[in-house]
Amino acid sequence: MDKNINIDHKLIEYIFTHTSNLHPIQKELIKYNESLGHIKRLQISILQANFLQFLIKSKNINNCLEVGTFTGYSTLSMALSLKKNGKIFTIDKDKEKNIIAKSFFKKAKVSNKIKAEVSNANDALIKLIKNKKKYDLILIDADKENYISYFDKSLKLLNKSGLLVVDNILWKGEVINVNSNDKLTQKIKRFNLHVKKSKINKYILPIGDGFYICWK
Ligand SMILES: C[S@@+](CC[C@H](N)C(=O)[O-])C[C@H]1O[C@@H](n2cnc3c(N)ncnc32)[C@H](O)[C@@H]1O
Repeated sequence: MDKNINIDHKLIEYIFTHTSNLHPIQKELIKYNESLGHIKRLQISILQANFLQFLIKSKNINNCLEVGTFTGYSTLSMALSLKKNGKIFTIDKDKEKNIIAKSFFKKAKVSNKIKAEVSNANDALIKLIKNKKKYDLILIDADKENYISYFDKSLKLLNKSGLLVVDNILWKGEVINVNSNDKLTQKIKRFNLHVKKSKINKYILPIGDGFYICWK
């Protein structure tokens, strides 16, 4: 058996107090998401956002693409780590949540770095491919039914040295439940197998609901 410690809430607190502080608008947005009830779980975890920030800063990432904006926590976190001229293109079909996300981007003074498009993700990705766009970092965090399609399209949009990050790939641990008949669990399992079979380099980081990190 491999050697990993269990990370409980107290240890997570310890990690937070020994790394950088959250931006006041990140804190405000987390509080807002908590007020939404059960859909607050749609937001990536704080540790996952911190990890994306680490990637952006350490790899000098300039140009990001995100599939799944929701109320903007992941987008805001990435934008706060980008340099002045850095950009994020983020896609979500939910018009109402997009207005909320934009209000937080404005409050944090990062609107100039973010283009938030309200659109069906597959349509938007097809358009980006057609326009020959390329990105240093792509985050996929939207409807699980389309993960394979988003992944395949993202490969065409990824720079040579770029990173493709996909959320929810451990699906609360359900991916190892052999008795699960849940449709979404099956979709995630099929997606994970698709990535496994693809030639891309890959690593699974077990933070939040599980990140697949892929590179060419
Ligand atoms: C898990 S949430 C994204 C969370 C966000 N990354 C964050 O950390 O706050 C998934 C989002 O995908 C969006 N979505 C679902 N299906 C979509 C589709 N077909 N096209 C575009 N967006 C879609 C939903 O509206 C939802 O806001």
